[in-house]
Amino acid sequence: MSLVQTSASPSVSGHGADPRPATGLPSPALSGKVRVPGDKSVSHRALIFGALAEGETRITGLLEGEDVLNTAKACVALGAQVERRGDGEWRVRGVGVGRFQAPVAPLDFGNSGTGVRLMMGAVAGNPVAATFDGDASLRRRPMKRVLDPLTAMGVVVVEAAEGGRLPLRLQGVSDLKAFTYETPVPSAQVKSAVLLAGLAASGETVVIEREATRDHTERMLTHFGADVRVEPHGPHGRRITLAGRPALKAAAVDVPSDPSSAAFPLVAAVIVPGSDIVITDVMMNPLRTGLITTLKEMGARIETVAERTEGGETVADLRVRYSKLKGVEVPPERAPSMIDEYPVLAVAAAFAEGKTIMRGLAELRVKESDRLAAVADGLAACGISHRIEGDDLIVTGAPDVAGGGPVATHMDHRIAMSFLVLGLASLRGVEVDDVSFIATSFPTFMPMMAALGAVMA
Ligand code: S3P
Repeated sequence: MSLVQTSASPSVSGHGADPRPATGLPSPALSGKVRVPGDKSVSHRALIFGALAEGETRITGLLEGEDVLNTAKACVALGAQVERRGDGEWRVRGVGVGRFQAPVAPLDFGNSGTGVRLMMGAVAGNPVAATFDGDASLRRRPMKRVLDPLTAMGVVVVEAAEGGRLPLRLQGVSDLKAFTYETPVPSAQVKSAVLLAGLAASGETVVIEREATRDHTERMLTHFGADVRVEPHGPHGRRITLAGRPALKAAAVDVPSDPSSAAFPLVAAVIVPGSDIVITDVMMNPLRTGLITTLKEMGARIETVAERTEGGETVADLRVRYSKLKGVEVPPERAPSMIDEYPVLAVAAAFAEGKTIMRGLAELRVKESDRLAAVADGLAACGISHRIEGDDLIVTGAPDVAGGGPVATHMDHRIAMSFLVLGLASLRGVEVDDVSFIATSFPTFMPMMAALGAVMA
């Protein structure tokens, strides 16, 4: 695939019309070694930073999932040159901060909150107007959390759907005001949108978060030559200070494997009796490893085999074996480090002895689906005892899980993968109603699981 200076083409995630059901079936012990695709968060950022920088950014290991490909298309529509070479390396020739061109058509981010929210921040400091849109799931998700700080910096919302939702049109400005913002929700997307806007502002932009969220934007800002200071703030938070108008310089990015994708074969190996697998090159950024911490507390046998530093991130190979689990209480302050992993943790909890209490899950309600409701409905469809109390999810495990379905996936890749994994260790298997959205983040999920011995049909 080569994308060079074309106008925006339609979203690659044209789902909805043709749901594809599938079933995760009781499987023999999983074995083998796999490498899951590149990290989604780092992949989006590598493309966006490449588009904002001067010179040619080279990216290896980019996740070629639909969400990231839509971000690549948006970069092209804004004037960057983006090209995939035959050897899988991606090259982005950027335009420089403040020099995006006006896109001629709406930017369609498909299913991706990260793509659209980060790009709104990146566009903010350019004197161009752009329309942002997405699929039915993305159109339901809150955008005000990004529009509030961006409008305070000077961006104009020309029009928006009800409640500030997509589709919406922004008019960027070349003289953005530097700004200090305390994020009202723990969100790396909100933080990143403000910091990306701050690149084009004069003076210092400061983001304060009460709970630290994934820090890939901060790391990449430094990697591309910006001046960023990160300090602790309170017991769990951070204060990030960015000096405006840096000369962003193209850089090489080697994208490590996505811990949020590794979570699926990992939990599958923990719950399918006799399993023993290795997942290689997994990014071990401490703001992403809450699931591993929690599973280890539950008794999972997860060994970090070869920890090393690659491209500024710690990566490791993980040996994962079938394990007898016990229920635990997961504290709310751990949520940001495993926010995308609760659906698959709920699956692990279904096989644990006793109750697993997951506290502080309000943000799950505004993901690709209302994940709290989707997980609860899926657990109910599989005969698993659970309840929601406020923002907490409580799952009571049992040695024999019936399975069943069909589980409604609500255009949500992680709901689909989680319940297929549940099916592998269940008595009857689990049917999910649509696996097409798995292509947004983990296009090789089905063949990779099959290579480990998982039975899915
Ligand atoms: C992401 C941040 C998280 C996460 C999403 C990726 C990012 O979202 O759920 O999958 O790359 O910044 P929030 O910022 O909404 O918590």
